[in-house]
Amino acid sequence: MASRTISAARLVDLLGSSASATPAYRGIADGLRLLIADGQVPAGTRLPSERELTAALDVSRTTVTRAYATLRDSGYATARQGSGTVAGLPSASGRRHGTPLLPTDRNAEGSINLTCAALPAPHGTAVAYEAAAAALPAYLDGTGYHALGLEELRERIADRYSARGLPTTPDQVMVTAGALGALAATLRAFLATGDRVLMESPTYPNAIAAVRSSGARPVALPLDSSGWATGTLEAALRQTSPRAAYLMPDFQNPTGALMPDHQREAVGTALRRAHTLTIVDETLVDLAGPEAPVPTRRPLAAVAHGAITLGSTSKAFWGGLRVGWLRAPLDLMPALTEARLTLDLGAPVLEQLVLVRLLEIQDAILRERRAQLAVSRAALAEALAEILPSWRFTMPSGGLSLWVELPEPMSTALTVSAERQGVLLAPGPQFAVEGGLERWIRLPYTASPDVLRDAVCRLELASRELGTGFSGRRRALAPLIA
Ligand SMILES: Cc1ncc(COP(=O)(O)O)c(C=O)c1O
Repeated sequence: MASRTISAARLVDLLGSSASATPAYRGIADGLRLLIADGQVPAGTRLPSERELTAALDVSRTTVTRAYATLRDSGYATARQGSGTVAGLPSASGRRHGTPLLPTDRNAEGSINLTCAALPAPHGTAVAYEAAAAALPAYLDGTGYHALGLEELRERIADRYSARGLPTTPDQVMVTAGALGALAATLRAFLATGDRVLMESPTYPNAIAAVRSSGARPVALPLDSSGWATGTLEAALRQTSPRAAYLMPDFQNPTGALMPDHQREAVGTALRRAHTLTIVDETLVDLAGPEAPVPTRRPLAAVAHGAITLGSTSKAFWGGLRVGWLRAPLDLMPALTEARLTLDLGAPVLEQLVLVRLLEIQDAILRERRAQLAVSRAALAEALAEILPSWRFTMPSGGLSLWVELPEPMSTALTVSAERQGVLLAPGPQFAVEGGLERWIRLPYTASPDVLRDAVCRLELASRELGTGFSGRRRALAPLIA
C-alpha cells in the first residue's frame, strides 16, 4: 500500500495551540496522542520527520525528539526502520473498531437502548399494508421473482432522483434488501480481495464490517468538526489509491453533517480524477433538521459521475420493511444484477407494494418525522447542556443522532458504566475505520424527550462513577447486546 503521510504544515494546523503548552514537548505529545486516538491522524500514518516538524513548529529539535519519544512510550507511535515515526494505537484501544451494530426491538425492563438510531413505523403504515395486500392478487399469477424490483416501484424511485436533479430511468434502479443489501451487491460486483475502500471516519459500523467481510480493506478519511476537508480527501486519494470511496454526504451517520454544494463539486472532481468508484449512501437523506435545506442538496452522484447511490426506507419509513435500493449508471447495472443474484433473487413483493403506498404519502410522513425529530433533538441538546456541560457537540444538520465529544478518552469505559445505569450505548471506536474515537460517543435522539432526559441523567451518574483522571484506564469493549 502506498504509505500514508501527513505534512508538517497540516499537523501543525491540527495541533492548534497544543504546542504552546509547557513543557512544549509534553503539549506536542499530548496533542499528537489526541489526534491519533481520535482518528484525525489514522494509525499507520507516517509522521513528519523531526527536522520538518521542528521547522514547522518553530521549536527546538530536542523538543520534537522528546515529544516523539513520549508518543512512542505511550504506544501511540512506533519507530520504523526507513519510515521514521509512524502513528499507532496501543493494543487495547485499536481493537474491535467497526464491529457491526445489532439493531433490536428488545429493551431490558427499565433500560434505555441508545445503540440503535431508528424510529417506529409512521402513521399510515398499517393502512399501506392493507392496501398492498389488496393489490397483491394481481401479482400472484407470476413467479414472484423480480430481480430488479417491481416496475411501478422502480419508476417512483427513479422519479424521486430526477426531481432532485439526478435524471434517472427505472432501468437504473435495483430494489434490494435494505441499503446494506445494495452495498453488499456493489462490493461483490466491483471489489476484489485487498482493494482499498476509503470511508469517512466516523462512519456506519455495519458498512465497515461489510467492506471488511468482502475482503476489501477500509481506509479512513478522517472527518473534522466541520465535516469533510477537501484537502484531506485529495491527500487520502493520492496516498492510498482506493478502488472505491463510501461516502454519506447527506446527514452523515453518526455526525449528521451535510456536505455543502461547493464541496460536492470539488469532491466529485477529485474522485473522478482518481478513478475511484464512488458509493454514496443516502440512507438518511430525507431526515433534514429544522435548519437544513429541504429538498436537500443536489445528489452527490450528479457531480461524481459514475457513482452508485444507495437508498433505504429504514430511517424515513420503517426498518421492518427491509426494502432499499441502488441507483447506478446503466452500464454498471449488468454487473450489479449478476452480483445481486448471488445474494438473493429479489425483494419481497408485498413490502415493495407497501412502499409504493408509503411513497404516495411521503410528504406527510416526512413532515411528521422531521417535526418529531426536531423536538427530540432539542430535548437531548438541552439536557446535555444543562446536565453534562463538558460534553460538547455541534448541532447536526440532520439525521438521527448527536456525535458528542467527551471531556476525556473514555467512550468504551462510559459504555460499560452506562450499562450499569441502564443505558445501552455504542462507543465511539465502533464507528472508527482504523481505530481511535475514544473521545466520542453517538447519542441517537429517536426516543421521546422524557426518555432522552432520563438517559442523560443516568449518563451523568455513569460519568461520575468513572471519576476524573480516568485517561490512563482502559477496558475492552462490552459485547453489544442490542
Ligand atoms: C448509513 C446507513 N446505511 C445503511 C443502513 C442500513 O440500512 P438498511 O436497513 O436499509 O439496510 C443504516 C442503518 O442504520 C445506516 O445508518
